[in-house]
Amino acid sequence: MQRKLIVGNWKMNGNFVSNQLLLQGIVAGVRDLHQADYVLCLPYPYLHQAQSILQQTNVAWGAQNLSANEDVALTGSVSPSMLVDNGCTYVIVGHSERRILSHETDDTAAARFNAALKAGLTPIFCMGESKDERESDWTEYIVGRQLDSIMRRFGVHALSHAILVYEPLWAVGTDMPATPSQAQEVHQFIRKRIARCDEHIAKNARILYGGSLHPNNARDLFAMPDINGGLVGRCSLDAQAFVSICLSI
Ligand code: 13P
Repeated sequence: MQRKLIVGNWKMNGNFVSNQLLLQGIVAGVRDLHQADYVLCLPYPYLHQAQSILQQTNVAWGAQNLSANEDVALTGSVSPSMLVDNGCTYVIVGHSERRILSHETDDTAAARFNAALKAGLTPIFCMGESKDERESDWTEYIVGRQLDSIMRRFGVHALSHAILVYEPLWAVGTDMPATPSQAQEVHQFIRKRIARCDEHIAKNARILYGGSLHPNNARDLFAMPDINGGLVGRCSLDAQAFVSICLSI
């Protein structure tokens, strides 16, 4: 049985003052919870702040992206070892906002995935289709292609060191989450596709759902057999809402 996981993705939000209150609120709220692992992914400038507040708590921290390179002249980039230096254990890779707004491709996301693994970080690898793609019945093609972009390059075993996320683009930031059965259908597809290569890895894969997760819908989504937790955007910016989602698992 996979251990459940709830990840907060703060995106480009926060400042030193508000972060302190939010981090302390989340720590206080999940301190006595044992049913899942908890992770917060912050903007780079606040990783050290996260480290100082979260160390020795049951909340881990990570980044939202990383360079695929180490020790090269790459102005404005952050290397995997720098994340490790800040105590990160996780890093989001291939989020749809980066795929769309920053021209992330299957190739560049795969290179970052590999760089994260090489540094000992756990990649949180995001997959998902757009509204048009869903309406054209391309969901399995798109998600399958994104998943295969990792399995084909690095082998199915790479997935046993990663977290997978189904995050349909039409559900991100829209207040229109996938229904539990829509999400379950895709999660099951992902697990079956991994099982074609390795049943044990498929059974143990942690596949999270993301997209408009909220205290009102988390319990029903988390009740689905192939959903092993969530990637939470807006509701991770409110300690009460985030803790309430953590209590729903
Ligand atoms: P929301 O929860 O705000 O829809 O964001 C989802 C997301 O993109 C998390 O990575």
